[in-house]
Amino acid sequence: MQKVLVTGGCGFIGSHTIVDLINNGFDVVSVDSNIRSSTQLLEGVEKITGKKIRNYKVDLCNLEDTNAVFHENRDIVGVIHFAALKSVGESVNDPLFYFQNNLTSLVNVLKCIKEFNIPNFVFSSSCSVYGNATELPVVEETPLGEAQSPYARTKQIGEQIIEDYSRVNATQSILLRYFNPVGAHPSALIGELPLGKPDNLVPVITQTAIGKLPKVTVFGTHYPTRDGSCIRDYIHVMDIANAHTKALQYLIEKRNAKNLEVFNLGTGTGVTVLEAIHAFEKVSGLKLNYELGAERPGDVIAIYANNTKARTELGWDPKSGIEEMMRTAWQWEVALRDRVLNN
Ligand code: WQD
Repeated sequence: MQKVLVTGGCGFIGSHTIVDLINNGFDVVSVDSNIRSSTQLLEGVEKITGKKIRNYKVDLCNLEDTNAVFHENRDIVGVIHFAALKSVGESVNDPLFYFQNNLTSLVNVLKCIKEFNIPNFVFSSSCSVYGNATELPVVEETPLGEAQSPYARTKQIGEQIIEDYSRVNATQSILLRYFNPVGAHPSALIGELPLGKPDNLVPVITQTAIGKLPKVTVFGTHYPTRDGSCIRDYIHVMDIANAHTKALQYLIEKRNAKNLEVFNLGTGTGVTVLEAIHAFEKVSGLKLNYELGAERPGDVIAIYANNTKARTELGWDPKSGIEEMMRTAWQWEVALRDRVLNN
C-alpha cells in the first residue's frame, strides 16, 4: 500500500483529504503541530475510515524534528503540504509571523524531500495568488496580481520557491490553487473547526444560525455585481480533497508533462454573498439574521475559476453545488452542538 505524508493533516482540508486518500487505497501519516488544530478531526477520520491515523506533533519550522519524521517514513511516495497559517485578517496584523511560519515550514519540507528523494509533492496554494483579477474566470496562466494580504503573498512566494526548487531538482510537483473551500464530509464526523470567532463566511453563517454568533454582516452590497455583494467560487471540501488524490495519482502514473504544474480548484461558478445566504436559508429552512454592512478592506470584488485544466488533465469532476455545500456545513454545525449537549 503506497504511503503519503500529509502535513496539516489535523486541519479542515487536510483531514478531508486523508479520508479521500484512504478511500483510494493509500496509507497516510500526518504531521501537524496542532497550533491551530487538535486531533479531534483525526478521530473523526478514524470513525469514517476505520483507520487510525498517526499524527507527528511537530513544528515544521524545526528542521531537525521535521527531518526525523521523514527519516522514520522513508517509504513515502509523496508529500501533500497543507500546514500553514491561513487567516487573511491575522496576516495583515502580524505579517512577520506569517512569513516566518509559512515559508520556513515550506523550505524545511522541501529540504527533506530532497534529502530523502521523495518523488512527488503537492502544494496547497490559493486563488488569492491572483489578487484582484480583472480577467474572469481566471485560468492558470492569468497573471498574478498584487497580493491583497500577507497570507496571499506567502502563497505567491511559496509558489516561486517551489518553481526555483523544481528547476534544479527531480521532484515532480503540483500547485493546487483552491478557491473557497466550504462544507463538510456527509457523515458530519469531520468539518471546519475554526478556533475562536471565524473569519470565513460559511462558518459565520452556520454559527449565527446555531446561535453562537448574533448575526451575519454582509461586507459590502454596492459592488458592481448582480446583487451588489462580492462573488466567490465556493467549492466543496470533499471535491477539493479528491483533487489531491487525483493530483498524486497523476504524478505517480507519470502523466505530467513538466515537473511543476499548476491547477485551479473551483467549480467555475461564481456565487454572491447574498446568494450563498439564501442557499443556506433554503437548505436549512431557517431565516438567517443578517445585516448589510461596510466593505471589508482587502476583499476582491469577484473571482471564480476556469477549471478546465484540472478536469481534463487530472480527470477531476467536482460534484457539489452551493446548496450541498451549505447542507453539509449546517449538518456539521448541528452535530457539533449535539456532541457538546450530549457530553
Ligand atoms: C468570502 C466572502 C467576504 C465573512 C479567504 C482566503 C482564501 C481562502 C478562503 C484559504 C467575501 C464575505 C465574509 C462575513 C461577509 N483561504 N463575508 N461576511 O476572503 O474570499 O477567502 O478564505 O485557503 O485564500 O483569502 O473568504 O469566507 O472570508 O469571504 O460578507 O462575516 O464573504 O466579504 O466577499 P475569502 P471569506
